[in-house]
Amino acid sequence: MSRHAVVTGAASGIGLAIARRLLTDGWDVTLVDVRDGALAKAADILGHDHSTRVSAIVGDLADATFATEFVGNAWDIAPVDGLVNAAGIYPAIPFLDVDADAWNRVQAVNVVAPLLATQELARRAIATSTTPSVVNVASGAATRARPGTAHYSTSKAALVMLTKASAIELGPYGIRVNAVSPGFFAVDSEVNPVTAEYAELLSTTVLPGPAKTEYVADAVRFLLGEDARWVNGANVPVDGGSSAGTRSLPQHWDDRTHWQSGHFTTELSGIEQ
Ligand SMILES: NC(=O)c1ccc[n+]([C@@H]2O[C@H](COP(=O)([O-])OP(=O)(O)OC[C@H]3O[C@@H](n4cnc5c(N)ncnc54)[C@H](O)[C@@H]3O)[C@@H](O)[C@H]2O)c1
Repeated sequence: MSRHAVVTGAASGIGLAIARRLLTDGWDVTLVDVRDGALAKAADILGHDHSTRVSAIVGDLADATFATEFVGNAWDIAPVDGLVNAAGIYPAIPFLDVDADAWNRVQAVNVVAPLLATQELARRAIATSTTPSVVNVASGAATRARPGTAHYSTSKAALVMLTKASAIELGPYGIRVNAVSPGFFAVDSEVNPVTAEYAELLSTTVLPGPAKTEYVADAVRFLLGEDARWVNGANVPVDGGSSAGTRSLPQHWDDRTHWQSGHFTTELSGIEQ
């Protein structure tokens, strides 16, 4: 029997890549997004290759009622085995200009909606003795502030903690909750436009090559599936290594400090380690 996943924010970018990957893996997928036209187009494109296994639900996840009810609507199509909370907004606003409305909307979409959706999924799973799993799409911004993202970074930090807190409470029911934290991915977003200059600056990673949204989808696929049966409450960076440290500093060694015969030798101190 095929598995059923629900992916929010699936009309474009990372959510769309995740939906495509899961379909390729044989999951039935319900796409959720606020943008009617873009969602219909995504469902059409994915459905072209995967016929009847794609469904779509339109709605605004900033609306708490919808953020709870869409899970039930998806469950009516088929019991849900996987939920991916990928919808997110990241409007750039200088710290001094962030007002309560902007703050609350970002928290509503990025954190409150995943909370409500996960609760509803868990209620249904517990009632039917099933064990779905959840993946939240957080961000490297959860742990690294940058200008214009106080509201966004805070929402993603909260989402990482929500992942851990829900994993702790739902784990005893066999329901796993994990997160991925993407680095920067150029997605040509309509709702989250990023300037070319900003994209260029952020796109430097430790690994060579362009970051592709499929790489996030691969990690999500792993976390949702059986191979991750013992992984719970994790936050997996998918960023080419950029969160491991920084490369944007000059080298601070010179030829007085070097590797020799497998030993690290510092001529300054004369101590061989
Ligand atoms: N692109 C990146 O570099 C990057 C990095 C780290 C994290 N992320 C996260 O990845 C996720 C996907 O972002 P993306 O970069 O693919 O952007 P995107 O704009 O292409 O995708 C976001 C999708 O979410 C949908 N959405 C927005 N608000 C919604 C709402 N209220 N209700 C329902 N759907 C809504 C949008 O319509 C859109 O289709 C987000 O959670 C984002 O924070 C992205």
